[in-house]
Amino acid sequence: MMLKTLDSFKKDFSITNEAMQNIANCFKETMEDSLKTSSGQFKMLPSFLGNPSGKESGVYFTIDMGGTNVRCAKFKIENGTFKKLGEVKGRLKDPAGNFDYVSEKNNAEDLFDYFAEIMQELANENEDGYLGNTFSFPSKQTSINDATLIGWTKEIKVTGVEGSNINKLLTDAFSRKGINIKPVTILNDTVGTLLVGKYTYPDADVGVIMGTGYNSCYLQKNHPLTGEDMIVNMESGNFSKGLPITKYDKELDSKSNNPGSQIMEKMVSGHYMGEIVSCVISDLYNNAELFVNNQSSAELFMSLKFDSLDVENFMLYPQKTVNRFSCSLADAIVIKEVSECVVIRTSRLVAATIIGTLNYIDDGEISKPHTIAIDGTIFEKMPRVPELMSEALKDVLKDKSQLISLKLVKDGSGLGAAIAAAIAVNR
Ligand code: BGC
Repeated sequence: MMLKTLDSFKKDFSITNEAMQNIANCFKETMEDSLKTSSGQFKMLPSFLGNPSGKESGVYFTIDMGGTNVRCAKFKIENGTFKKLGEVKGRLKDPAGNFDYVSEKNNAEDLFDYFAEIMQELANENEDGYLGNTFSFPSKQTSINDATLIGWTKEIKVTGVEGSNINKLLTDAFSRKGINIKPVTILNDTVGTLLVGKYTYPDADVGVIMGTGYNSCYLQKNHPLTGEDMIVNMESGNFSKGLPITKYDKELDSKSNNPGSQIMEKMVSGHYMGEIVSCVISDLYNNAELFVNNQSSAELFMSLKFDSLDVENFMLYPQKTVNRFSCSLADAIVIKEVSECVVIRTSRLVAATIIGTLNYIDDGEISKPHTIAIDGTIFEKMPRVPELMSEALKDVLKDKSQLISLKLVKDGSGLGAAIAAAIAVNR
């Protein structure tokens, strides 16, 4: 039997070398347009942070709100080495449904009081110190310590935060709880990741997050605001020019909190990966190509929401899928194939954006060595993603791909905030 829907899904999700080249060109053009006008697709947000000296030192608190967790930590930095002295983590949303700090039912005070409670668990009573805040959402930055949230991404809906100065909300929450820790800097997680990357790899000049969300930053030489090198948070999750957007991507986008925005992020990041797989599976079922004569498995599958860990399990353990949904092994293998196609597409799309960024940095064509500092669960944990990305770079760049190293930078958003705090205090 000819599996029509599955075949056309596979075709639509495969990113050819020519498509990658085209996406890379569109990405570079989007960077250039967005630097020229504020109406460009990328926000190109200044970070007021550049090259770390490598001599940063001291003990700093950090807070890091990503899309899934908030983490408070304390780091010691000394002579280029780092030590985590403590960490307390809290989920933003309870998977069992007992609490959800990121729903529209909560306001800024609820969310930031929750952050303060977690900080109270970490810091000793009356302990004081300086703090770096990694806030991983598009924020308009006017100084190293002042940033206003432009708009939530990753389906977060808390009221009263958009348009507010984030470190002011944090400072107010800390003073309500009698915490003496002072925020001195705010930064994006991509920026933190590049700062940490630079400690180990002097030629690191691009930072990428492939986690719950997706975004990238790069080091802009002689930034017009300061005349010095500055890391620019592109907010490249909003990229869409030249992307092969499928009907599944359109379906997912139309149901999202911010239709029409963050198209690249919705195609590649962990928050949306499970939903893309679900959209495809439901199409296959509706076209009688999956769960044939097995309505109960189909109903169970469609009733659930999947995250990137589920996608990973679909890829690695078809037998678990059989057990979980009481389906045939053949069905489980189709689900595995669908998941693999989604993950391969993620790897190739992100690789294409890296080529675009480096072509911009090197004035047209990659000509010198670059390290790309990457953090996030998709790069770190999803099977084969680093290899798939390296292969994709090689497919397009051939020998020149040897100029690019993709490096996992663990805890870029935690440690990066401590380095940024040290930079801020020294200034
Ligand atoms: C946010 C970025 C962030 C990325 C990765 C996106 O949704 O807009 O600011 O860097 O997620 O966490």
